[in-house]
Amino acid sequence: MIIEPRMRGFICLTSHPKGCEQNVKNQIKYVKSKGHIEGAKKVLVIGASTGFGLASRITSAFGSDAATIGIFFEKPPVEGRPGSPGWYNSAAFENEAHKAGLYAKSINGDAFSNEVKRQTLDLIKADLGQIDLIIYSLASPVRVHPVTGVLHRSVLKPIGTTYTNKTVDFHTGIVSEISIEPCQGDDIANTVAVMGGEDWAMWIDALKAENLLAKGATTVAYSYIGPSLTEAVYRKGTIGRAKDHLEATAFAITDSLKSIEGKAFVSVNKALVTQASSAIPVIPLYISLLYKIMKAEGIHEGCIEQIQRLYQDRLFTGKPIPTDDKGRIRIDDWEMRDDVQEKIATLWKQATTESLPEIGDLEGYRKDFLNLFGFEFEGVDYRADAEEMVSVSSIV
Ligand code: NAI
Ligand code: NA
Repeated sequence: MIIEPRMRGFICLTSHPKGCEQNVKNQIKYVKSKGHIEGAKKVLVIGASTGFGLASRITSAFGSDAATIGIFFEKPPVEGRPGSPGWYNSAAFENEAHKAGLYAKSINGDAFSNEVKRQTLDLIKADLGQIDLIIYSLASPVRVHPVTGVLHRSVLKPIGTTYTNKTVDFHTGIVSEISIEPCQGDDIANTVAVMGGEDWAMWIDALKAENLLAKGATTVAYSYIGPSLTEAVYRKGTIGRAKDHLEATAFAITDSLKSIEGKAFVSVNKALVTQASSAIPVIPLYISLLYKIMKAEGIHEGCIEQIQRLYQDRLFTGKPIPTDDKGRIRIDDWEMRDDVQEKIATLWKQATTESLPEIGDLEGYRKDFLNLFGFEFEGVDYRADAEEMVSVSSIV
């Protein structure tokens, strides 16, 4: 079967197994090129199949020779329909890890559920004993609460007033004005329930209760801040409330881990093209200007460069982990540099359908988006029959 990108709105319905494999191999190669990191050896990654979580798993395994357990929610391929990119990424990761002699197993299911937590605890008990690093990198639009059974849906909306700004449709390149109505009713509470810190704390409580955390265990969750341009819809919007909650949860978890000298951190990462961020209005325009400027300055990073730097320059230096005045690790430091943000503010005013191809990196955006699904990688023959990828026994 020849697999091509099939777009519907902001999503791509198909994904390419060979391209996803190439993506994973490229990331492994990058991590290896940066040398050994004296990091954690037994690592649990929750949200391990794409984006920052996949990059974290790869950095642990191929930067520190760590044994990894990955949790994710992906679709395996079935007759006539390709699997989701995260499934192919994980299959490719496990194959590469096993070839390198590294322990790697995965659980494909709902991380919010008691069942998947139970399965994970049993797997750790059976295979690894104790964990010393837990990366929490879930991005989900929904969560079924494991205690109440209520289905919460997160929304990406401003709070209080309508937000109006420019945005771009990165498929067509058309820049237009968009208005987003403020959230209503339980939107904030629902968004906090899905993307806040409650589930993170539940994971850590469950691991601690069964003595599966090593002394000095560290856990890290990912957050975002961004510029004032996007504040109303991001950091001061519904999703921002969830991130506030996530960040506050880090302190609560650190308190709960006193007896084992464990610590919880939030790392604030750079804005990048992922399935989640493409769906937020305004953000794609911001990212296309950001990419252009950061590439020109030689400071552009993707997920793997971000996470490799997080590990090497922040988490595992042998010194105390540097944080901002709110206790957060900042790996968005280059994105937030004054000179970068000043340039974006200027270009933002100039951005039109006509000017954007010149002043922004729409092409880079589009390529990164297709890369998420395994398309447009060098070294992959997309005209060849895409091999059926069979099931991988270490993914249950
Ligand atoms: P992503 O969509 O690439 O990855 C999400 C992961 O969560 C995948 O592995 C997916 O399988 C898993 N997942 C989703 N629902 C699940 C469920 N119910 N059970 C088990 N696994 C589930 O997202 P991305 O962008 O890597 O986001 C990860 C974190 O990084 C999020 O907290 C996000 O807010 C944060 N972040 C993202 C930025 C961006 O620009 N993309 C910037 C800074 C932070
Ligand atoms: Na992730």
